[in-house]
Amino acid sequence: MQEKIIVTGGCGYIGSHTVITLINHNYEVVIFDDLSNSNLKILDRIQKITGIKPHFEQVDLKSSEATHAVFKTHKDSKAVIHFAAHKAVAESIHNPLMYYQNNLFSLINTLKAQQDNSIKHHIFSSSATVYGNPSQMPITEDAPTQRSFSPYGNTKKMAEEILEDFTNSQSDISVISLRYFNPIGAHESGQIGEFPTAIPNNLMPYITQTAAGVLEKLMVFGNDYPTKDGTPIRDYIHVVDLAEAHLKALQRLLGPKSQPLEVFNLGTGNGYSVLEMIKAFEAVSGSLLNYEITDRRPGDVPEMFASTALAKQVLNWEASRSLHDMIQSSWTWEQNLRKGLK
Ligand code: UFG
Repeated sequence: MQEKIIVTGGCGYIGSHTVITLINHNYEVVIFDDLSNSNLKILDRIQKITGIKPHFEQVDLKSSEATHAVFKTHKDSKAVIHFAAHKAVAESIHNPLMYYQNNLFSLINTLKAQQDNSIKHHIFSSSATVYGNPSQMPITEDAPTQRSFSPYGNTKKMAEEILEDFTNSQSDISVISLRYFNPIGAHESGQIGEFPTAIPNNLMPYITQTAAGVLEKLMVFGNDYPTKDGTPIRDYIHVVDLAEAHLKALQRLLGPKSQPLEVFNLGTGNGYSVLEMIKAFEAVSGSLLNYEITDRRPGDVPEMFASTALAKQVLNWEASRSLHDMIQSSWTWEQNLRKGLK
């Protein structure tokens, strides 16, 4: 019999790629999503790619009553993969309460509903932002977490603290928290990718939208950092590699070696500067990008890249897709969007 998995935020960028990986590995998926930053058309795309349309429930997980009701309907599920959250750093600085309310209420309501319905496994979408400005590279999971510059980052740090307290209590729910570095790229079919609803905050969609002529110019935020070319270094990871890591985490939780709480970095272990990303994009697209060096962006740290050893050892997972694959798939997706794939 197929095991049923609840994917909150399954219509979003990382969620939708993970749903495809789960369906391809014979899991039954039910998506819980409020569609606040996603689109129902994604379900048809998932069907086109996998042959299966996942079950869908539109639900606001900020509401404890609505969460309770929808979990009751799906109490035969084995695990929850909890992607549903707001993620725009700048927006969170302007509207912190919206971020604390959405990201933390939804987590608490989800955990409570899991407890009430004996759904014993939970995978949480965390972020490398919990490390703040770390002093040692590569970053290992035992590096101290720090208060973040942004309310968004703090919701991830607080969520991890909630999960720690919860799993230390009488709870028999086991949790894996996955700390993503910088997810980019899109599904190889060209059918699924990130749907930016506003002007993007992140580097890759900003690059592709500039190249597509949607935005005029990329601003490079500072070239006076203590790095090889003065621009900040990040660990970019293909979203499909990230999706596969969720599958491995799920298999561990459902298997005999499941622990109360484990935390893993999800990155490639390679760091690329902003200027290297621009050059790599120009090589892939065959055209020059319009960009300008400007002031630093508040809150940016000089360098972040992951130690990947723990995920490799415990989850038997490592990223396999190259920077070229990441950039090529991002660019193909952007071009498909502009051709009217909306
Ligand atoms: N950058 C630019 N111009 C832009 C956008 C970004 O120069 O228009 C630079 C940034 O200054 C930074 C790099 O590109 O040096 C990467 O920036 P992103 O915004 O793409 O990514 P961040 O590393 O700042 O943030 C990402 C996620 C956050 C997460 C964080 C964890 O977006 O959700 O990683 O480290 F919290």
